[in-house]
Amino acid sequence: MPNVMFLRVVTRTQVGIVGAGPAGLVLSQLLDRAGIESVILENREREYVTQRVRAGLLEQATADLLDELGLGERMHREGLTHHGLYLRFRHQSHRIALSDLTGRSIWIYGQQEVVKDLIEARLAAGQQLHFEVSDVSVHDFEGDKPRIEYTHEGERHEVHCDVIAGCDGFHGVCRPAIESRLTIHNHEYPFGWLGILATVPPSTDELIYTLHERGFALHTMRSPELSRLYLQCDPHDDIANWSDDRIWEEMHRRFETDDGWELNDGPIIDKGITPMRSFVVEPMQHGRLYLAGDAAHIVPPTGAKGLNLAVRDVRVLAEALSKFYADGDSSLLDAYSATCLRRVWRVQHFSWWMTSMLHLIGDADDFEHKLQLAQLDYVVSSQAAATTLAENYVGLEKV
Ligand code: APR
Ligand code: PHB
Repeated sequence: MPNVMFLRVVTRTQVGIVGAGPAGLVLSQLLDRAGIESVILENREREYVTQRVRAGLLEQATADLLDELGLGERMHREGLTHHGLYLRFRHQSHRIALSDLTGRSIWIYGQQEVVKDLIEARLAAGQQLHFEVSDVSVHDFEGDKPRIEYTHEGERHEVHCDVIAGCDGFHGVCRPAIESRLTIHNHEYPFGWLGILATVPPSTDELIYTLHERGFALHTMRSPELSRLYLQCDPHDDIANWSDDRIWEEMHRRFETDDGWELNDGPIIDKGITPMRSFVVEPMQHGRLYLAGDAAHIVPPTGAKGLNLAVRDVRVLAEALSKFYADGDSSLLDAYSATCLRRVWRVQHFSWWMTSMLHLIGDADDFEHKLQLAQLDYVVSSQAAATTLAENYVGLEKV
């Protein structure tokens, strides 16, 4: 009788991808288009990854990429295009005309909808994507025959590949496997966001970012019937302390204006608190293990960049792998980390800047708050300053 502990089902592929979030799924599509085979391993259930409410703002370039991959159909039908946003402070709103200033726009389309579309496309094409795998571990990536081990439906498996893509998010296993080789930059903010999804028509046509004496708030949306709102809160607070009535009362106070604008409230169907951090590892690669997306970096959500940055990483990685397989040339793979980190730090700076400008710090003498208001006054009154915000917000083309 063989010892079942030592039986392994072995699969061979070119790129082994850990994680079926936006990074892993977009990478697999890009590779497939270039004729490169991949296997995706995801430790959650399909329902979990497609239902988890997360951010929902796509830069023009991210939306264009979904179109290019033939995955933009539902986004065009159900998503919303926005050409501006509002900054609200001293109880007044000021519009930043994103499209007039940059020639580009943004899309509102939930991350879980993007993930749903990507999963469907992958499975419809008969490509390998395994949910509910466990005990995932990565091996031998310092040589040229890396392996991923995992358990699925009680069986041990091994994926033998040329390259491993660690797309397993902030809490995954790929980064920890190489952490001793990396430099970690971590900045935790003394506040978090309480986010809600409510079945009520949005009270605004474009997003409103508010700095109020009681703290930051953001009004965004998912559809003409579904609003998404966020409040600055204590990152250690328990969501159980926030009844629906208390949340709406706080929203009403933070969004109040002098001009009679009204905030619609309604049934809350999802709520949660997320801490905020800025995090980067350098380099984003060791041997043949390449990190992409949240596995390598986290940005505070104020700049709406997390998903977009993840997609940028995998575009760089897919291009590098295409060159590697087409010509045996590893120069783009060797440059992967440096290429990505230039953009990562630009986006880190923008996300930190938006966060610092819009959140209440609570210093004793109000000095920081006065500086924030001075900065906001400048952004809404100078075309140069507004353009700086706008071009970063819609996504810089070069960097
Ligand atoms: N094995 C397999 N899969 C794993 C493991 C593991 N050990 N650990 C985590 N995962 C999966 C998660 O369940 C998740 O589905 O990896 C996926 C990572 O996806 P995301 O966390 O969404 O990260 P990423 O694809 O980099 O997307 C970037 O942008 O707006 C931000 O944070 C937001 O998710 C977002 C992201
Ligand atoms: C969202 O729609 O969830 C969203 C939009 C903009 C942000 C953050 C989140 O800055």
